[in-house]
Formats: sequence, structure tokens, C-alpha cells
Amino acid sequence: MLITFEGIDGAGKSTQIKKLAAHLRNQGDTVLTLREPGGTEVAENIRLILLESRHDITPVGELLLFSASRAELVNEVILPALKEGTTVILDRFFDSTTAYQGYGRGIDLPTLSSIIALSTGGLKPDITFYLDILPEEALIRKFSEKSIPLAFDNDELDRMERSGLDFYRKVYEGYGSIMQQEPNRFVSINARQSIQEIHTTIIRTLKEWSPEQHS
Ligand SMILES: Nc1ncnc2c1ncn2[C@@H]1O[C@H](COP(=O)(O)OP(=O)(O)OP(=O)(O)O)[C@@H](O)[C@H]1O
Ligand SMILES: [Mg+2]
Repeated sequence: MLITFEGIDGAGKSTQIKKLAAHLRNQGDTVLTLREPGGTEVAENIRLILLESRHDITPVGELLLFSASRAELVNEVILPALKEGTTVILDRFFDSTTAYQGYGRGIDLPTLSSIIALSTGGLKPDITFYLDILPEEALIRKFSEKSIPLAFDNDELDRMERSGLDFYRKVYEGYGSIMQQEPNRFVSINARQSIQEIHTTIIRTLKEWSPEQHS
């Protein structure tokens, strides 16, 4: 089973993935958690290029780097793991590309979806948890985590995080549109709830989830 987590930076994805993986392992499941971009040696190197704040990258360059990293991860790690019956939990997948490079950077959506299809070979998550929180609030979490003042030109931020609030607003709107197109795959959760409340909702949803209903 392939589970993905989506949401803007600071929404709480990594926090929830850690808790979910621990829960599933406790009940005896084999679980693999991965983050995008990254997860193979090549993909981790691409991650450094993408997130290093010194680099200026064009929107198309950015899209292709994310997609290259994704192709490596899908073929080298995710597909073999799924074949063995492992539960794979992904911290971001192609919906992030649609939201960030499509709605955020303005790359046209049909081109984008063919590049996504190429890089994933058509692989789709069984279920996607979307952690819903306004960019303003999520970024405040991010800034306070790093103990830095609220300013987007801070050296402590990665390249994506430095893109500014207007960019994040477009990404947030983008996620809204993406979810409307595939309501069966997405589970949207109010990410302003406590960490434990969100975790409980995720566990309950997975218990009730059955492949038959979604095929
Ligand atoms: N439900 C919550 N309520 C309050 N704070 C939270 C909640 N969930 C996570 N946080 C805190 O918000 C910060 C960001 O959380 P986290 O790193 O999990 O977000 P993320 O979605 O993985 O962000 P990124 O996309 O940048 O990796 C952390 O300091 C975390 O402890
Ligand atoms: Mg994270």
C-alpha cells in the first residue's frame, strides 16, 4: 500500500508520518518511510541542488530536477518495496509538483501531468492525507521551529521556503483544486488540530479504508 502526505511547508507532515509509521510497525506491518526529493543516492544529491538556498533555478529546471529525483525513487525503491508487500509512506509525491511547480510557479498543467506520468510510470497513491492549514500559520510554525524572525530572506530557510508568502498562497489554492479532482484519493484533515487529534483521525481513516471501495 502506498500512502502519501501532502500540505504546505510546516503543515505537520513529517510529524504525522513518524507517528503513523511507529503505529503501523507496532501492529506488525513492514513500513518504509521516504521523503521527496530524495531516497536514493542520486535523488539525495538532486535534493541538495534543489533546496540549497544559493542556487537560482528556473521553474522548468526545478520541475525536471524534482521529476528526475522522483523517477529514481519510484523505480529503485518504491516499486520493489510495494512488490514485497511493504507499506510505503511518502512525505510528498507528485501532488506537490502540481501544487508547487504548476499552481505556484505557473508551469502549464497538461505539460506537467505528462512529465509526472513519465517520472512515476503512472504510479498513484492508494490514499493521500492532505494536512490543511493556511500558509501564514504553517510558516509561523516553520519560523518558530528554526527560532528565526518572520522574514523570507533569512539564510536559515531553504530555497523553496524563501519563495515568499504570495507563492505559498498560490500553492495552497492549488492543493484545493487538486483535491477536488480526486476526492476519493484525498483525505483532508484540519492541520490546526493537535498532533494527537490528527494522528487519531489518520489511524481511524486507515482502519476504515478498503481497497475494494477505491478501485
Ligand atoms: N498539529 C500541530 N500543532 C502544532 N504544531 C505542530 C503540529 N504538527 C506539527 N507541528 C510543529 O510544526 C513544525 C512543522 O512540522 P513538520 O516538520 O512536521 O511539518 P512538515 O509538513 O513536515 O514541514 P516541511 O514541509 O517543511 O517538511 C514542527 O515544529 C512541529 O513540531
Ligand atoms: Mg517535513
